[in-house]
Amino acid sequence: MPSSPEGRWTFTYSGLTLMVPSQVYRPKEDTFLLAENLLLQRGETVLEVGCGCGLIALLAARKAARVVATDLNPFAVEATKANAQANGLEARVEVRQGDLFKPVRFGEKFDLIVFNPPYLPSDGKEPQDWLSRAWCGGKKGWEVTERFIREVGCFLKPRGRVLLVQSSLGGIEETVRRLQAVGFSVRTVEEKRFFFETLVCLEARLISQS
Ligand SMILES: C[S@@+](CC[C@H](N)C(=O)[O-])C[C@H]1O[C@@H](n2cnc3c(N)ncnc32)[C@H](O)[C@@H]1O
Repeated sequence: MPSSPEGRWTFTYSGLTLMVPSQVYRPKEDTFLLAENLLLQRGETVLEVGCGCGLIALLAARKAARVVATDLNPFAVEATKANAQANGLEARVEVRQGDLFKPVRFGEKFDLIVFNPPYLPSDGKEPQDWLSRAWCGGKKGWEVTERFIREVGCFLKPRGRVLLVQSSLGGIEETVRRLQAVGFSVRTVEEKRFFFETLVCLEARLISQS
């Protein structure tokens, strides 16, 4: 049962208990869609970009050899660190602050990279607070995703894959086309329809690098 002492929200999911400060994105349908489709082999290495409170990174850490979790939002970085510690997973989750792949070291490569990006279109104004940055994907909704797609291949191992959440409000076909253009084969792992949008979890596998 969620609760919110001192502006923090606490919830449990699949045996993990996490707290979410008021400046950090609260896990929603898009988070749970990714969580339900987070399939990985024991011993793999995982990068989560935009970790929020860390739910996905922590779920991955139960199987992965190592997880790196990044976020632009320093409150998200602190929350993920605290949640990893509270759930006894701090030895396997390294949390770093920064824009997209900037916190990833030169030469670091992963079996799986996951991102539930800010994908909703905005009025084109720069987001003014951390919560707006969590959902605001720029004027058309895919600006952050587009930058992610351009760079992600450099951080994948040769047979690596990407799990990416997208919304019908931000242009799913455009995202698929862009992934294919940089050498990925793409499939829809799961699609969920809601009253005002459809969410998809896409899996992209690197077949050739452009
Ligand atoms: C939709 S939320 C998802 C949070 C969490 N992964 C989840 O599924 O609940 C998007 C996250 O990406 C982060 N973010 C937005 N732009 C980013 C960027 N350019 N680089 C890194 N993280 C970013 C936000 O701070 C936010 O935590």
